[in-house]
Amino acid sequence: MLSPLLALKEVSVHFGTANRPVTAVENVSFSLSEGERLVLVGPSGCGKSTLLATVGGFLRPSAGHVLLDGVPVRRPGPDRMMVFQEFDQLLPWKSVAANIAYPLRLAGVTREVASARAEALIHQVGLTGFGDAFPHMLSGGMKMRVAIARALAAPPRLLLMDEPFAALDALTRRRMQEELLRLWHEHVFTLLFVTHSIEEAVLLGSRILVLSPHPGRVQAVLEVPEDRAARAALQADLHRLLLPEPADV
Ligand SMILES: Nc1ncnc2c1ncn2[C@@H]1O[C@H](COP(=O)(O)OP(=O)(O)OP(=O)(O)O)[C@@H](O)[C@H]1O
Ligand SMILES: [Mg+2]
Repeated sequence: MLSPLLALKEVSVHFGTANRPVTAVENVSFSLSEGERLVLVGPSGCGKSTLLATVGGFLRPSAGHVLLDGVPVRRPGPDRMMVFQEFDQLLPWKSVAANIAYPLRLAGVTREVASARAEALIHQVGLTGFGDAFPHMLSGGMKMRVAIARALAAPPRLLLMDEPFAALDALTRRRMQEELLRLWHEHVFTLLFVTHSIEEAVLLGSRILVLSPHPGRVQAVLEVPEDRAARAALQADLHRLLLPEPADV
């Protein structure tokens, strides 16, 4: 049988000391086939970023395995581009345009083609005129848009995105969501995406994995249907699952 692109097998991640251990993620298993779009949702602190960091190879699981093409992940690699939750992920000595063009240049794309692609992306993320600016001259949301543009410049096999659109204004967020889907249709990469927004999860995911509150365990895995009415029903189910009615006081 063909092995999935990504498989997590009973992954647990502990932080802290032996005396005061903190279990961030407990016994999480799922797999992701080539071309799938899996969205992780769950309350703050349930371990979404921790899980993404283990898939990215930035963190080792305390127990269990993370397998990419059946091989354990040991370190970060260019096959897994990551957009982090934090703003400061750009190369500070490179301009906005050079930051975006960087993965293309690494992939051997010519300077001219890489610059043209960077220019188009700068426009798409609403940063026209800022190509020559350096990261320290940008606001947090602007830096995030540069990081998104860089990740989309040359979609890798597995794109890991940790709440990438959370800090954007509604219009830019909508534009970025559409651009991500458009690129996926064009290149069919595999996406692992974290969000707090149920609407965004249903819009972007082909499957949604719900994590329970701290420590994070798999609470539900839901297929996203094509049908509009079925999607609305799924959205309502997710709201009930994640935002239970407050108890009467
Ligand atoms: N480096 C670390 N050292 C110690 N504890 C950590 C570390 N990173 C995360 N944790 C703990 O692990 C748990 C999960 O954190 P994580 O950042 O993965 O949550 P999250 O689901 O991404 O939350 P948010 O939605 O707020 O981004 C939290 O209890 C957090 O305090
Ligand atoms: Mg997080």
